[in-house]
Amino acid sequence: MLYTPIQFRNVELKNRWVMSPMCMYSCENGMANDFHFVHYGSRAQGGTGLIVIEATGVEPRGRITNHCMGIWNDEQAEKLQRIVEFVHTHSDSKIGIQLAHAGRKGSTWNNHQISIEEGWETIAPSPIPYHPSERIPHVLTTDEVKGLVLNFKEAARRAVKAGFDIIELHGAHGYLIHQFLSPLSNIRTDEYGGSFENRIRFLLEIVESVNEELNAETALFVRISGTEYAENGWDIESSVALAKVLKDYSVDLVDVSSGGNIHGAKISVFDGYQVPFSSQIRNEAAVKTGAVGLITEVEQAEEILQNGNADLIFVAREILRNPYIAVQGSFEMKEECFFPHQYTRAKISS
Ligand code: FNR
Repeated sequence: MLYTPIQFRNVELKNRWVMSPMCMYSCENGMANDFHFVHYGSRAQGGTGLIVIEATGVEPRGRITNHCMGIWNDEQAEKLQRIVEFVHTHSDSKIGIQLAHAGRKGSTWNNHQISIEEGWETIAPSPIPYHPSERIPHVLTTDEVKGLVLNFKEAARRAVKAGFDIIELHGAHGYLIHQFLSPLSNIRTDEYGGSFENRIRFLLEIVESVNEELNAETALFVRISGTEYAENGWDIESSVALAKVLKDYSVDLVDVSSGGNIHGAKISVFDGYQVPFSSQIRNEAAVKTGAVGLITEVEQAEEILQNGNADLIFVAREILRNPYIAVQGSFEMKEECFFPHQYTRAKISS
């Protein structure tokens, strides 16, 4: 199944390998440069079905660090467009971008919060820092929340113009959207807090406004944390319920990760440890899902698909180690080889 195509709207992926979004902390002023051109371009040459560009801030405060990617202005989008055009011209891979806002987890370097002068005042649904040693974030007013929805919409408009095939919204890992979802980080009393319906409202408004910018040539994914491993927190039942709603809002795939919102949460990490969350969401909400997390072997990836636990395989650290994992897998599975046509002679050993 790894080499069976799959379609989202009019976007067909040639195989099920996805380069998972990964911050590279290598931008100035949120702009992609030659590092990113080669970094993402080489995964296209490696036969990856879909490449997802790292978490990209929809406004300056939406970045995790000063060196994260941004798409809050046209110049940033033009730099990204160069990568998109390379992938489309020189491969048959597809390319997506993860739109993100760090919220209370912004203004950091090397996983530590930096000062307002070096960074910025962070924002959040409620006055609860991620770690007790951190500054209390600015609590968003209701109007400011609506303003952020517009930031996502504008970012999506730029991404569509740049030619991206997939937009992924970052609703996982304790960043702003996740901060709204969780009753442990969202204790608001307005329409964006309290009940499940209120806590998912920010994400749904973003989905709705982003969808207004999309067309049949651009599909929409949402990454969530299937659970945050905390009592009375966001859990797998909430994720299944959310996934059912997202399906009704024309979200094409739920990319299922976990954790990130509760400091010190106990997580048991092993090969494919998040696959059960993907499986439960896929089977109970009847949505397409992506599995991610310690998937490093071709056979393992194939098994996840065969067992009906996911539709796509997101690979992060292993594809940093091996940009050619998709091509290599196609050799192993004796499938059509996904090398670039220029490399055809590599198939001939004598
Ligand atoms: C990540 N991850 C991540 N996730 C995400 O949704 N957006 C991001 O920008 C990043 N950034 C990032 C940077 C780096 C260097 C790493 C290693 C990871 C998480 C990543 O996409 C993936 O979910 C996890 O790494 C688990 O998958 P692997 O690494 O076990 O395949």
